[in-house]
Amino acid sequence: MKRFAKIFGVVVLVLVVLLGVGLVYFLSAFPKVGPATNMRVAATPELVARGKYLANHVNVCIDCHSTRDFNYYSGPIVPGTEGQGGAEFIEAIGTLRAPNITPSALGNWTDGEIARAITSGVNKDGEALFPMMPYPIYNQLAQEDLEALVAYLRTLRPIENEVPRSQVNFPLNLIMRTIPQPYNPQPRPSTSDTIAYGKYLSIVSGCNFCHTKTDDRGQPLPGMDFAGGMEFKDPKLGTMRTANITPEVDTGIGAWDRAYFIGRFKEYADSTSSRIRVEKGEANTLMPWTMYSGMTEEDLSAIYSYLRTVKPVRNEVERFSQP
Ligand code: HEC
Ligand code: HEC
Repeated sequence: MKRFAKIFGVVVLVLVVLLGVGLVYFLSAFPKVGPATNMRVAATPELVARGKYLANHVNVCIDCHSTRDFNYYSGPIVPGTEGQGGAEFIEAIGTLRAPNITPSALGNWTDGEIARAITSGVNKDGEALFPMMPYPIYNQLAQEDLEALVAYLRTLRPIENEVPRSQVNFPLNLIMRTIPQPYNPQPRPSTSDTIAYGKYLSIVSGCNFCHTKTDDRGQPLPGMDFAGGMEFKDPKLGTMRTANITPEVDTGIGAWDRAYFIGRFKEYADSTSSRIRVEKGEANTLMPWTMYSGMTEEDLSAIYSYLRTVKPVRNEVERFSQP
């Protein structure tokens, strides 16, 4: 009996040591993205203007990294809070907070470190970010668009606002270390190649990200591209689900012509239509209409052209349920 206990003890010890070695290896090996590049962005006025357009109306960085007012439809940004961070999302997996990205917070980051955070999802110290920051889609940004974003962030009004680090629960805090990937820049399709350009925009602006339902592990459901049904539960606002935007006629947007599609976005472009009060129990939306309404007609039109080419899927979605 004593001998058995001794053998058992040794086996347990060996297992603990192996587990420890495995964990130390894992912690040192991931995230696997390498050092930040020493890129230096030459911030011309054109580049800053492009970055401002992308951050506010296409990649909608400013949407998550500012304070939004959900007393109004689509939660317009509270003026003066651009980039200050602080939006808090309390989920079963932990508490996620969008950090301050104004120069008060990123002033001592290099251009390469900011670019690496956007495309690969690690912070200045190389620690993994949770992919609610949609870096897996920004990994597909063209180099010139990435540089434009970095140039623009440097011009934001500095706002002193200390945001505590997100808290992600075990085991996701370990698993998330495997998500960051090195940046693999692709050329931006020419605007004359309308469908390829529209596809690029629909990826980097997040249409696919929100409008394709995922399984419990965050993987897109096969065959359901753009068919909607992704669910967002908010204790105060209610449950919101994304619309089917495939070219299916009855349940998607197959019956929409180009002008109607563009018009649906431009509806929110002026200062009154971007502030529609939502009373308690009325449907609100996470679709950032007010931000996308600033997209150029040319870009919206390219997205429309691309969406006409995706597989039509019949999928009826109930977009809103009461809290
Ligand atoms: C859907 C919401 C969302 C969008 C859109 C978004 N972010 Fe983030 N971002 C986050 C969250 C949440 C974090 C923090 C993640 C964490 O703590 O693990 C983050 C982290 C960051 C960080 C790291 C800051 C730090 O102190 O660690 C930078 C830089 C950043 N985002 C820049 C951007 C830029 C630039 C864009 C647009 C190209 C963008 N973000 C779009 C939610 C978002
Ligand atoms: C943060 C998540 C999110 C992102 C990103 C997003 N959407 Fe949406 N979208 C929604 C939700 C939720 C709805 C349903 C509620 C509503 O109609 O606003 C919706 C509705 C729509 C509708 C209305 C369909 C109808 O039948 O009325 C269209 C069109 C649309 N989205 C297109 C897009 C396009 C194009 C993009 C990319 C440029 C995009 N969405 C990005 C969440 C998102």
